[in-house]
Amino acid sequence: MKKSCFFYRKKKYSLVQNGVVTKKSPSNIALIKYWGKQKNKIQIPSNSSISYSLGKVYTVTRLIYHLRKKKKRSIRIFFSGKENTSFLPKILEFFHRISLYCSYLRDFNFVIETKNTFPHSSGIASSASSMSALALCIMEIEKKLVSSLEEDFFLRKASFLARLGSGSACRSIYPGLVVWGGHKSIKGSNNLYAIPYPYKIHPIFTKMGDTILVIDEYPKKILSSKGHQLMIHNPYAKERFRCAKKNMDRLISILKMGDLQEFGELIEHEALTLHAMIMTSYPYFLWMKPNTLHVLYKVWDFRKQSKKNIYFTLDAGANVHLLYPIQEIVSIRKWIYSDLFSYCKKIIESFCQ
Ligand code: PMV
Repeated sequence: MKKSCFFYRKKKYSLVQNGVVTKKSPSNIALIKYWGKQKNKIQIPSNSSISYSLGKVYTVTRLIYHLRKKKKRSIRIFFSGKENTSFLPKILEFFHRISLYCSYLRDFNFVIETKNTFPHSSGIASSASSMSALALCIMEIEKKLVSSLEEDFFLRKASFLARLGSGSACRSIYPGLVVWGGHKSIKGSNNLYAIPYPYKIHPIFTKMGDTILVIDEYPKKILSSKGHQLMIHNPYAKERFRCAKKNMDRLISILKMGDLQEFGELIEHEALTLHAMIMTSYPYFLWMKPNTLHVLYKVWDFRKQSKKNIYFTLDAGANVHLLYPIQEIVSIRKWIYSDLFSYCKKIIESFCQ
C-alpha cells in the first residue's frame, strides 16, 4: 500500500453542524534548503531539508465552516480583517489537492480569517505559517469526526496536508528542528511529511536567536513555485542535490558536537547556494538587493573582529536572518542596531526553538 493511503478519509462522515476552529502556526527558516521538486510529482522535494520553527513569527487562522446547501462551493478569505481574493486560486488548488484525503470538506462552505503576528509587507514568507495553520484547522475538523484520532496521526497528517499547500509549510507543524524529505541517515524521514529532528542536539543549538533584517518589504517578483520549476533545467541542479545530501550529513554531526563555527559556515554556504541556483536558472533572477550585500559584508567583518558567533542565512528574497547563540543577544542586538539599522526597513527579533 502506498504510504499516502494512510491519510485517505473517503468514508462518508456526517458532520451536521456548522462550526469554527482556530489554530496558530509559526514561520520557519531552513538551514539546509529545499529548492527543486521531483518532476511529475506533487510537492515531492529533490533533496531533504531541515529548518528551525520560529518563535513570535506566526499566523493565526480561524476557519469557519457552514454546511453547503447549494451545489457551488464558496470559500472566502479575510486577511487582517479585509477580504482578499488574491489568495483564492492557491487555496482552491489546495482544497482540490487534499480532497482525496479529506472528503468531508466537500460538505462545507468556508470562511478563512487569517492574521500574522509579523508586520504585513515585511517580505517574510507567510506561506509556510499560513498553509500549516490552515492544515491544522482542517485536522481539527477531522478530529471532530473521528473521535479516536491520535495526536501523532493528527500532526503527521497536518504536515502531509500542509505540504500539499506549500512544501516548506509541512515543517512548520512541529517546533524546534524539523526535517522534511527522505534522507538515508535520518530515521523516519520521508518525502510526504516532516518529522521532528530525531537525534541528539547540543544545548547550544536548542535555542538560538534569529534577528530578521527586513531589507525589501515588497513581495518577491518570482513565486517560489516558479523558482522550483526552474531547477528542472538548471545546469547545476544535479550537483546541488548531491551537495544538499552531503550538507545534511555534515549538519547531523555538527548538531551533535555543538560546533558553532562549522554550523555557521554550513548555513551560509547553503544560503548562498540557494541564491546561486536562482541566478543560474533561465530566466535568471537576483533576489539580493545592494543592502543585502552590505549586511553580509558587515556580518563577516564584525565576526572577524569580535569573534562572536553570528551567522546569516537567506530565504528566497533580499532579507537576512542572523542566527546566534541566544546567550549573546545583548551585545549582538547592540551591534545590529548601531551598525545594520540603516540598511533595513524593519528589524524583527525572533528566535529558533
Ligand atoms: O515552500 P515553498 O514552495 O515556498 O519553498 C520555499 C523554499 C525556501 O524557503 C527558499 C527554502 C526552504 O527550505 O524553506
